[in-house]
Parts: sequence; C-alpha cells; structure tokens
Amino acid sequence: MDLLRVEAISKNFGGVAAISNFSMVQPYNTISAIIGPNGAGKTTTFNMISGVQTVDTGKIFLEDVEITKLPSHKIQRFGVSRTFQNIRLIEGLSVIDNVKLSYTSRLTYTMFEEFIHSPRVRKNETVLEDIAMEYLEFFDLSKYAKSKPKSLSYGLQRRLELARALMNEPKLLLLDEPAAGLNPAETRELMGTIQKIQEQKNLSIIIVEHHMDLVMKICSIIHVIDFGKKIAEGTPQEIIKNKAVLQAYLGDMGGEIC
Ligand SMILES: Nc1ncnc2c1ncn2[C@@H]1O[C@H](COP(=O)(O)OP(=O)(O)OP(=O)(O)O)[C@@H](O)[C@H]1O
Ligand SMILES: [Mg+2]
Repeated sequence: MDLLRVEAISKNFGGVAAISNFSMVQPYNTISAIIGPNGAGKTTTFNMISGVQTVDTGKIFLEDVEITKLPSHKIQRFGVSRTFQNIRLIEGLSVIDNVKLSYTSRLTYTMFEEFIHSPRVRKNETVLEDIAMEYLEFFDLSKYAKSKPKSLSYGLQRRLELARALMNEPKLLLLDEPAAGLNPAETRELMGTIQKIQEQKNLSIIIVEHHMDLVMKICSIIHVIDFGKKIAEGTPQEIIKNKAVLQAYLGDMGGEIC
C-alpha cells in the first residue's frame, strides 16, 4: 500500500482549469517533487491534498482512508502537514509559541479546565513546551525560542516553518517552494535539512520547487505539470531528458532545468 494515492483530481476556478485529472502515488519513506512552470497548478494540487481547497472531481486516499472531502484540520490529524509558498508565521507569537500552536488544536479541554488552568492543562503545556523545544533544537533554532519570527532571517524563518509542520508528527509533509527567497548557500543547507528530516523522522515528503538542483539531487520521483496537466513522471535522470518537459521549461523559464 502507498502512503498517498491521488486519483484524477481536478479543480476549476471560474471556468479556468487550474489542474485537470492529476494522479500520483507517494510511497512511504520517499522524497518526490511536483514541478512545473508558474501557474501550472502545483499549489492548487497541494491545497486539495491538504484540504485547504475542495476537490471538484477525483479522489484522494491517505493509506486506506479517503480524505477527499475532509476539512484541513482532520487531514492534518490523519498525518498530513504542509508549509506554504509565502511564509505564514504568526508575528505576535514567539518562535516557540508558533511551533506549539500547531499542536494545541489537538488538545481539548473543557472551558472550566481552561478557566482554572487545571493540572491537566498545566501538565500538557509543559509537555508541549518540551516537545516544541526538541523540534527547535533539531533545526538549531532553540536560541531564538523567545524571539519574534520577524527578527529571524528568511532562511531561519523557513526552518521554523519546518519545525512547526513537524510538530504534528506527520506521515506526509508537503513543502511548497521551501527554498523561495533563500540564497544558494541557504538552499544547499535546506537540501541537507530536508534529507535529514526524511531519514530521521521516517516520513514521506513531496516538494514543489523551482530550484532544479535541489529537486534533482534529493527527489527520487518527479511529477511534472504544465497548464494544469501532468506531462511527465519519472526519475530525475528520466525527467531531464524528457522532450515535453524541456519544451515546457524552455518556453517558460529559459531552460532553467538544463
Ligand atoms: N483561488 C484562485 N482563484 C482563481 N484562480 C486561481 C486561484 N488559485 C489559483 N488560480 C489559478 O490556477 C492556476 C494554477 O495556480 P497555482 O497557484 O496552483 O499554480 P502554481 O503552479 O503553484 O504556480 P507558481 O509556481 O507561480 O506558484 C493559475 O492559473 C492561477 O491563476
Ligand atoms: Mg504555487
């Protein structure tokens, strides 16, 4: 059984097909990529898998559970975490509170327990704090725990997003352009971090990314979409030689893939 199975999903916006009949499987313990020129439908695909946007037609399964129509918080509980193309950190909260917040939605207390700050609430908060700190340490961010996200460099904010996404202990991690805005050194470092996450946490990762060196080095399977349609799927070696892919990129990005 595969971890994720996407069966012919489609999404239209006012008659414009953002993505049509897109299918893919994601095995366990694998890093794969979805690539394609601007506007190809990559983010829309992530939005449907993570429940941020509804699916018009098609089905999505996580292991043997159909998640097609589930709201995003339920899909998250089933083990899908994601990051966003534009960094989405909460500025008013400290670095550690940003990480904790992604988990607190799982904890349910009665209003009375919250009001009196009961022992159960206090115990859970201490445990949460410890777990969040472990994730910050994993990403070498613990010294910034009490800082505000804005005081961190772009590269560190991207790492903080990863810490926050992992706090939910996902089986599947979706990363939408994790290297956007990073310089080449930060991008190389991120590449190593993504591989480390995959190996140490035993999870599966799908990356949407324009940095082809990153994709080619760390992904075992690449899915290519163009104008909302899948035009190729294969290993990096296969994709780099694929005529339809070269055509799509030469038209749009001046051959960045070469
Ligand atoms: N909420 C929306 N309303 C209307 N059209 C949308 C919406 N979201 C996406 N689209 C359109 O759907 C198409 C696919 O957009 P999408 O954001 O998925 O592309 P992308 O591959 O992620 O592009 P990029 O590389 O620029 O991030 C585009 O034509 C876009 O304009
Ligand atoms: Mg996008």
